[in-house]
Amino acid sequence: KKTKDQLIIDAGQKHFGATVCKSCGMIYTASNPEDEMQHVQHHHRFLEGIKYVGWKKERVVAEFWDGKIVLVLPHDPSFAIKKVEDVQELVDNELGFQQVVPKCPNKIKTFLFISDEKRVVGCLIAEPIKQAFRVLSEPIGPESPSSTECPRAWQCSDVPEPAVCGISRIWVFRLKRRKRIARRLVDTLRNCFMFGCFLSTDEIAFSDPTPDGKLFATKYCNT
Ligand code: ACO
Ligand code: ZN
Repeated sequence: KKTKDQLIIDAGQKHFGATVCKSCGMIYTASNPEDEMQHVQHHHRFLEGIKYVGWKKERVVAEFWDGKIVLVLPHDPSFAIKKVEDVQELVDNELGFQQVVPKCPNKIKTFLFISDEKRVVGCLIAEPIKQAFRVLSEPIGPESPSSTECPRAWQCSDVPEPAVCGISRIWVFRLKRRKRIARRLVDTLRNCFMFGCFLSTDEIAFSDPTPDGKLFATKYCNT
């Protein structure tokens, strides 16, 4: 095994290494035709889905030096909805989530972070909820599933707590992570979800978080 690893490392820089595409963020092996094909496919779908032209009367709810946040509501023009659907499809593919059917499609609020290169680089989908179950930070009991077997099985409290707003998806384009885009999306959500009030972190809940999502949520809610 050791020699094999060594071989790959030696040849890696030239032909076999993993490449990160600077436009679509996909990590693939350039020497592998199947990988390359998958990349080409993803690349086109990604750039098409993520391109942002903008529309008259778009709802800009926040502006920053490196972009802006646009809010899309269910009764917006069909091209706005189409854009949200394209982005959601990419996100669902990346997360491997099943498409979730919202309980109240009329009440969904989608926030898109648009970079100054006119691309959708972040997306947050929120819906009203009545209660949530707190994720307990430490798994209880020795027989709790190990994180490698079942990374999403966080132990949840069985006591419901009142909540107002559920985040059903939050996603930031791979190459734009750790630039506080997710944080700014959640700040904006708290400000815009209910007219005239700023939601506290207790009033928002992240549904079914991924490991990334959990790290972010823990950090966000403590600060
Ligand atoms: N590991 C450790 N800490 C993290 C991570 C991470 N992967 N991501 C965020 N944080 C913490 C950090 O403390 C960070 O602050 P710092 O960079 O100053 O240290 C703080 O959270 C704020 O992070 P942001 O920069 O605002 O987060 P980002 O824009 O990178 O987006 C997100 C985070 C959305 C989780 C992103 O990593 C992502 O899209 N991941 C893939 C999709 C995903 O898993 N989404 C969550 C699904 S769960 C759900 O949708 C309910
Ligand atoms: Zn690409």
